[in-house]
Amino acid sequence: MSFLLDLALPFSRLFEAEDAHRLAIRALSLMPRGSTPADDPRLSVSAFGLNFRNPIGMAAGFDKNAEVPDAVLALGFGFAEVGTITPKPQSGNPRPRVFRLLRDEGVINRLGFNNEGFHSAAARLSRRKPNGILGINVGANKDSQDRIADYVAGVEIFSPYAAYLTINISSPNTPGLRDLQSAEALDELVKRVMEARERAAQRGIGRKPILLKIAPDVALGDLDDIVEIARKRAIDGMIVSNTTITRPASLRESNAKEQGGLSGKPLFDLSTRMLAETYLRAERAFPVVGVGGVDSPEAAWKKIRAGATLVQLYTGMIYKGFGIAREIKRGLSLFLDRGKHRSIQDIVGRDAVETAASRTGV
Ligand SMILES: Cc1cc2nc3c(=O)[nH]c(=O)nc-3n(C[C@H](O)[C@H](O)[C@H](O)COP(=O)(O)O)c2cc1C
Repeated sequence: MSFLLDLALPFSRLFEAEDAHRLAIRALSLMPRGSTPADDPRLSVSAFGLNFRNPIGMAAGFDKNAEVPDAVLALGFGFAEVGTITPKPQSGNPRPRVFRLLRDEGVINRLGFNNEGFHSAAARLSRRKPNGILGINVGANKDSQDRIADYVAGVEIFSPYAAYLTINISSPNTPGLRDLQSAEALDELVKRVMEARERAAQRGIGRKPILLKIAPDVALGDLDDIVEIARKRAIDGMIVSNTTITRPASLRESNAKEQGGLSGKPLFDLSTRMLAETYLRAERAFPVVGVGGVDSPEAAWKKIRAGATLVQLYTGMIYKGFGIAREIKRGLSLFLDRGKHRSIQDIVGRDAVETAASRTGV
């Protein structure tokens, strides 16, 4: 079935980016679901108390309203992250607000957390039969008076449905949101989120892992503070990274000047360097999820060698189609054969020092 969806990929280019996305969600919601073939056991990974059948996950932003997580898992992904979801529904910024940079294989988006809100997503998730690893990514409303309270409410509401929760403080499209990455604000945020998680655990819902998702644009001095706080407050993991507001000089498309966050191939070097910097600072106190520009087995392999225990992608699927998770898994198995590695977990971080030191990336 996924090959039929792939045939639709060139066709979807005829549509404006956001309409093509709506079509993709619709196609997945209609996809009949058989049993998914077993993965190469060498690709299985354990992280924050969860056992992943493979390390390739769908990043947040594709399924903002938790409409198709099981269809995403059926494409071969080892986990699916839905969201970002905010307490109240939000329409986001005016359209057009998603731009394909075709020759660069990138995307710029300034959606601004358009989503149907906590209530609608929670109602949908309450009808789901748990099957596969679901991450729920929560955020704050643009007009919120107390943004930390928005994250706290997200942890309280979604703990019953999530395998893990992501605190997203790195979207460039909600003014001031990334200020929560500064040391003082972050410490308070993480403290209150961890207390909320504890309260949910007391109610018998389970103590769900909390992950922090950061921007690739934080200065290294600020990254020192972020990782120190994450370690002190016993965060379960970090996701590196969200989109960048920088524009690499290599970009060729004229719409590269559009405002918003850049993702895809042009983000790979920067996000992989930040991943390695985070991995080295974390000193294995928690696992790091590597995101940004993964569109091939080679790119996923580099992320893992740079320090990623798990990998996520979104833009790669826009350019390579719905078969991308399967293609990456096949390639990773070949690399493991070639290097005679027993498990993908054995290579995590092997190139972290070199990657962090490289000015142009990996
Ligand atoms: C259209 C679009 C919407 C996104 N929305 C979200 C979001 O709501 N929350 C979030 O944490 N990340 C969001 N992201 C960022 C992705 O999760 C990911 O961190 C980033 O795109 C880099 O990965 P990629 O190069 O594989 O796309 C979005 C990305 C795109 C392209």
